[in-house]
Amino acid sequence: MKVFILGATGFLGLPAAEAFVRAGHIVYGSTRSESSAARKLAPVEIIPVVCDPHTDEGRAKWGKVAAKCDVVIDCLTATGPNDAVTTFKSFVSHLDRPRGSPKPTYIYTSGLWINARGMGGLDEWTDERQPTSTYNEAVQWRPLVEGPILESDKVYGIVIRAGVVYGKDGSLFGPYIFEPALAASKTSDKIFETVVENDSRVATIHTDDCADLYLRVAERAQICGGQIFLASNPATERLTDILDAAVRVSGCKGYKDKGASNAWDKAWVSTALIKPSLGYALTGWVPRKMSLVDGMDIYWAAWFANKELQK
Ligand SMILES: *[C@@H]1O[C@H](CO)[C@@H](O)[C@H](O)[C@H]1NC(C)=O
Repeated sequence: MKVFILGATGFLGLPAAEAFVRAGHIVYGSTRSESSAARKLAPVEIIPVVCDPHTDEGRAKWGKVAAKCDVVIDCLTATGPNDAVTTFKSFVSHLDRPRGSPKPTYIYTSGLWINARGMGGLDEWTDERQPTSTYNEAVQWRPLVEGPILESDKVYGIVIRAGVVYGKDGSLFGPYIFEPALAASKTSDKIFETVVENDSRVATIHTDDCADLYLRVAERAQICGGQIFLASNPATERLTDILDAAVRVSGCKGYKDKGASNAWDKAWVSTALIKPSLGYALTGWVPRKMSLVDGMDIYWAAWFANKELQK
């Protein structure tokens, strides 16, 4: 297959692009920067398309390449619906396939905070067969993007709702936990501040396991089209266990709660009691990485090494 990854140097996009390369596909990846294209994409056989994907000029550039591809994956970061909706519409508008051609596949990366329902027991337990919830205000816009993609008759539309991603460059664990822990480790009190919710359980996923799910659903789009997949480990991790592990690896003495200051912070500490099952049922997908807590030494070192590389 020919595959186009939007946001190919990102924490989800790069491992996904590499997984498609390893599986023998031809992979194009967008990046805004010439130097990222040269350092991160070209060396691992991802064909760079340098553009800002959210400008008219950028859309014309990537749209032309993507229109020739069989799979397009939106791995761009988004805090609202507009860019992602425009991105999808723009891709469809570039399609120019002869009648009777196979439909391309479009995979949108969403998040599973739209499933989170809070702290309780079985009433709050959820998976991809369950409807979305109104619990996390920050992500109430997600269905505005997911709906048109899932319902489109122009593509096999697939949604992957990723859990809180760890591994490699650390994703959100960088700014929320690792950065403040590293900074505090150099102070005298060695206590870092972060957003804490003692009972919170986090649905986590390693970026390489998420990449494997992208690959599996893309290769089976004919049966996965129109479906939502949750990408998270079979068991959630306790936020306070994650924080304790970060205390240990950073050499800190502890942490304290700085309080949630916006809806994203609240989502960050929200509990999503989730055990995905559709990825396994339709594609045999099973996450294989160590949990964040179990592998914390490796994940902390990888985050630190990536941070040094960015300098
Ligand atoms: C959270 O747990 C810590 C440590 O056990 C405790 O000091 C703190 O009061 C708890 N916070 C809340 C809001 O319950």
